[in-house]
Amino acid sequence: DANDLSKGAYDSYMLKEIDEQPAVLRRIIQTYTNINGDINMSSELIERLIQSDRLYIVAAGTSYHAGLIGKSLFEQLTDIPVEVVLASEFGYHLPKLSAHPFFLFLSQSGETADSRQVLVKIKKQNYPSLTITNVADSTLSREADYTLLLHAGPEIAVASTKAYTAQIAVESLLAKFLGTAKKIEAARQFDVRQELSLAATGMQSMIDEKDYISKLAKKYFYNQRTAFFIGRGNGYYLSLEAALKLKEVSYLHAEGFAAGELKHGTIALIEQDTPVVAFVTEAKTADHTRSNVQEVLSRGAKVLIISQENLVHPNDQLTFPVISELLNPLVAIIPTQLFAYFTAKARGNNVDQPRNLAKSVTVE
Ligand code: AGP
Repeated sequence: DANDLSKGAYDSYMLKEIDEQPAVLRRIIQTYTNINGDINMSSELIERLIQSDRLYIVAAGTSYHAGLIGKSLFEQLTDIPVEVVLASEFGYHLPKLSAHPFFLFLSQSGETADSRQVLVKIKKQNYPSLTITNVADSTLSREADYTLLLHAGPEIAVASTKAYTAQIAVESLLAKFLGTAKKIEAARQFDVRQELSLAATGMQSMIDEKDYISKLAKKYFYNQRTAFFIGRGNGYYLSLEAALKLKEVSYLHAEGFAAGELKHGTIALIEQDTPVVAFVTEAKTADHTRSNVQEVLSRGAKVLIISQENLVHPNDQLTFPVISELLNPLVAIIPTQLFAYFTAKARGNNVDQPRNLAKSVTVE
């Protein structure tokens, strides 16, 4: 149960929270939609959003990575240009803002100081704001004009898993609602309820492969010092999050890259048996990503491919059923969360409380 504060039969909160993700997704569908597909969110919020000419998504860490997936969702479904910004950078280097900006704060805890200092600044300018958070009554929730809750249940492991997928799900519902209100055709055609429930099923199919995923983790990561993740579009954004998770709990040096960027420098780091995980999750770039895979293979990399079923090649290690490319990150991220967990366990690390990290960072 996602609301249960005990670990139950689990050895760690992280594994429990990974397993809870399909249920959290279903709870989000139930909370925010009804059987006719109507979305239950404030119409006043939607009015404010319709009046804005640019959405600034402000966040840190994993929430920032969820914001990047949100950019794809909002731009494709609502036609609003989106900038995703790191809270710690943005507040002190305010770019020239659009005429009617709207600020979306993404924060699991709702207490991140870097995000709060941005909120304080933009409130002084009277710009409208929304916080998407897991914690009702948190600072960012109290201080923003509007709040949408993640309904993920308490996330106790320092490494965020279920909040990341919940953030993407809530962003998708908001994008659908706003796009429909703006009569955007792509939004009308996007059956968010159906896609989210397919995603929940897809997540479960990955979670059910845990034994196999643990074997892959052993083969690819246990004895390594470094690992790379590559992809394009949402696959690139997934790479950033997958690498962060591996760093946080297993202390491997891991980096995520846009697949096409590797050959512009980082490929120099590829040695015999360097693990490279590639996300093949987008039809229009699948062939390009596969050529990047060839480039690293010919330098000796040990490649692991996570692909969507319609894009699969016979030797891909992990494949998940087809859902909208806007939401397949919800499924594709699961095995990489498990790679981080299993590698950390095998190395004897404290999975829930990794060294040097705090659950919410309340200093700038
Ligand atoms: C996630 O695994 C991290 N522990 C961290 O990056 C986190 O996402 C970041 O500090 C932002 O926290 P928030 O979502 O509570 O604002």
